[in-house]
Amino acid sequence: MAIEVFAPAKINLTLHVTGQRTDGYHLLDSLVVFADVGDRLEIAPAPRMGLDVSGPFSVGVPTDERNLVWRAAVLAGVAGQISLEKNLPHGAGIGGGSSDAAAILRVLGAEAHASALGADVPVCLLDIPQRMRGIGEDVTPVGGVPALDLVLVNPGIHVPTPEAFKRLRTKDNAPMEDRLNWLDHAAFLAWLGEQRNDLQTPAASGNPAILAALKALKGAKLARMSGSGSTCFGVYADAQAASDAAAGIAKKQPRWWVRAVKTVSSQTGPTS
Ligand code: C5P
Repeated sequence: MAIEVFAPAKINLTLHVTGQRTDGYHLLDSLVVFADVGDRLEIAPAPRMGLDVSGPFSVGVPTDERNLVWRAAVLAGVAGQISLEKNLPHGAGIGGGSSDAAAILRVLGAEAHASALGADVPVCLLDIPQRMRGIGEDVTPVGGVPALDLVLVNPGIHVPTPEAFKRLRTKDNAPMEDRLNWLDHAAFLAWLGEQRNDLQTPAASGNPAILAALKALKGAKLARMSGSGSTCFGVYADAQAASDAAAGIAKKQPRWWVRAVKTVSSQTGPTS
């Protein structure tokens, strides 16, 4: 029997780059949340590994061992036929392949292999708000993060992650402000507004489409890029405001990927 699994979009609400290791990898401090849009996967037992890809973003997705979901199953010691429905733009700063791989590890009970598949995979093993540090392997749940009504905007360009890191001038930036104990939604947003995505300026320089996406979100309470881009998010007051804003942006930019989403809140109260 096939097992179905959902691989949600990952959003870096903050992404502080706090250093660089001698092997070139960067030290991060990031608050990560997950949305109610994502890819869908199915895995069925089969004598040999197989992968088929469908959905609006299937073009260019490898269907062999180059795909992280294939490698996830191999690391788990399982052969199966995987069907992957790509609903999320890939190489877009919202998880994509990392979330797909984490979903496969989760259903196969092989979470221990996450770090081997990429820096973003460990945080995608759970869909709750988490703080991600180290190069991505050090993840801890964060309490008190409210569900957020966001608009995700991808202007259709691909920013290679190494390139965004390479363009970053200062590598030893301040970590997130350690007051992770917000009393309410307003306090959370006020705090969030004071944090950063250190890759936003390097990714946007030379990619005016990112600036255009951020500008399109100017009606939001806060607009920022996720990951190394090019997807940007805007935070809105409620689901209606997000849905209205998404409709307006999609009308002006019919070629962009635009979605109103709700993020998963913390299951626990504020982390002291
Ligand atoms: O681990 P992953 O394959 O997702 O990373 C892609 C690239 O992004 C790495 O090869 C590296 O250039 C850069 N990266 C980094 N520091 C991190 C994560 C990724 O420099 N913490």
